[in-house]
Amino acid sequence: AQTAGKKYPFLFTQAQAIHARSFIPLQDSPQVRVTYEATIRTPKALLAVMSAANDPDTPRDGVYEFSMPQPIPSYLIALAVGDLHFKAMGERTGVYSEIGILDAAAAEFEDTESMLIATEKNFGAYSWDRYDLLILPPSFPFGGMENPRLSFITPTVIAGDKSLVSLIAHELAHSWSGNTVTNATWRDLWLNEGFTTYLTYRIMEMVYGEERFNMEAVLGRQDLQADLDTLKPSDQILAINLKGRDPDEVFSNIPYEKGALFLRELEHKVGRANFDQFLLEYFEAFAFQSITTDDFISYLEQTLLQDYSGKLSKERIEEWIFEPGLPKGAPVPESDAFTSADKARNDWLSGTIAASNIDSDNWVVHQWLYFLNNLPAELSSAQLTELDKAFGLTNSTNNEIAHSWLLICVNNWYLPAFPRLNEYLVSIGRNKLVKPLYKALSATSEGKVIAQKAFAKAKAGYHPLTVKVNEKFVK
Ligand code: BES
Ligand code: ZN
Repeated sequence: AQTAGKKYPFLFTQAQAIHARSFIPLQDSPQVRVTYEATIRTPKALLAVMSAANDPDTPRDGVYEFSMPQPIPSYLIALAVGDLHFKAMGERTGVYSEIGILDAAAAEFEDTESMLIATEKNFGAYSWDRYDLLILPPSFPFGGMENPRLSFITPTVIAGDKSLVSLIAHELAHSWSGNTVTNATWRDLWLNEGFTTYLTYRIMEMVYGEERFNMEAVLGRQDLQADLDTLKPSDQILAINLKGRDPDEVFSNIPYEKGALFLRELEHKVGRANFDQFLLEYFEAFAFQSITTDDFISYLEQTLLQDYSGKLSKERIEEWIFEPGLPKGAPVPESDAFTSADKARNDWLSGTIAASNIDSDNWVVHQWLYFLNNLPAELSSAQLTELDKAFGLTNSTNNEIAHSWLLICVNNWYLPAFPRLNEYLVSIGRNKLVKPLYKALSATSEGKVIAQKAFAKAKAGYHPLTVKVNEKFVK
């Protein structure tokens, strides 16, 4: 019932952070690396794929052999089985999905090969042979998962206009940061996600230009701020202390966006070309190893801190890694493209212009997100009706825009959007998109009733991780 075709079963694994142990008895820590071989037997109609060498032309005979010759941490072992079909996007890139969304997925992600080539040019050869995507059913609990050679991708980013493809850049970037150089423990996750987020912005800039990079960097900085405003200081530290905690419970933008901002500061201080050279050598130096934050700091001491002693200091670096919040003078991303969204918002809020007169014809998805995410917390029903009438926000087919809008609607109890809200919660299982909505609904007793109803209907279609996180709001 969760699939697009509704006919065949679909199986997928999700091992990160500490769930490989739920399907393989092993030492489930990223500091242990293994190669693997597997034989998977399935019903004849189905195809199995793994985070390993996949032959797109393999006969569908119900027996599939896999080999992952490079040593990987256990959290990157992955398997999926379903009524899967393959379409090539480039020489080394292709997409697996159910037949009904195959063409749309291949079109949306057609720039994957260019992303791969651009990343290699700057940061060193891709070490994993092929790079394919697997599109999962909407119940996939994450946006993406960087399983080597075969990233797992949510269908919620197939927007029709490539507006959300930074997710692909992100999962691809993990082929260098994370999969080739791995965090030894989950405390060191920032080495993985922070480097990857930094690379994601760089890839987006290389493939789509500086304006796209600037917009995404500003939105990322705002996501980071939202977490800095709510997380307790000890959870704002890059090298976070996880003693006694489940890494799933501690998930936030800190390792991602604060990590990326730290690297951007290093880039600005030593110059882009020098920093790129540093990254290239770093990926080579630690290839197929799992390293700790301390290993990284020692490496910095032998490299950048020595070569640029007048521009960098160990104190500053330790402040970034071990202190909460952001160091004073941290880089501030800016985007000219958001100036028009700021002006439109201010003019509309002050009553200078009507929503229908906002000149938004040429706005891209990012400008809409920026416009919506920076509206005041309290808006009247009349204001929301006006926005909705002018821009059809309740009916937006872009899942990120719909998310931002629905969150505003929940917080301001704008009932006309609630049928759409219900449909959204029941059809999407990506936790990042549904969790804030459940959380906001559960803040009031009337809202909680709506959340409970949606959750009861949606639960069978959610992944256990999404169930676990959201059940606590609706209880
Ligand atoms: N590796 C992560 C997903 C993950 C992290 C799973 C920690 C379990 C524990 C993946 O690369 C990721 O970061 N996905 C993000 C998208 C990204 C563009 C920020 C997601 O799923 O939203
Ligand atoms: Zn990631």
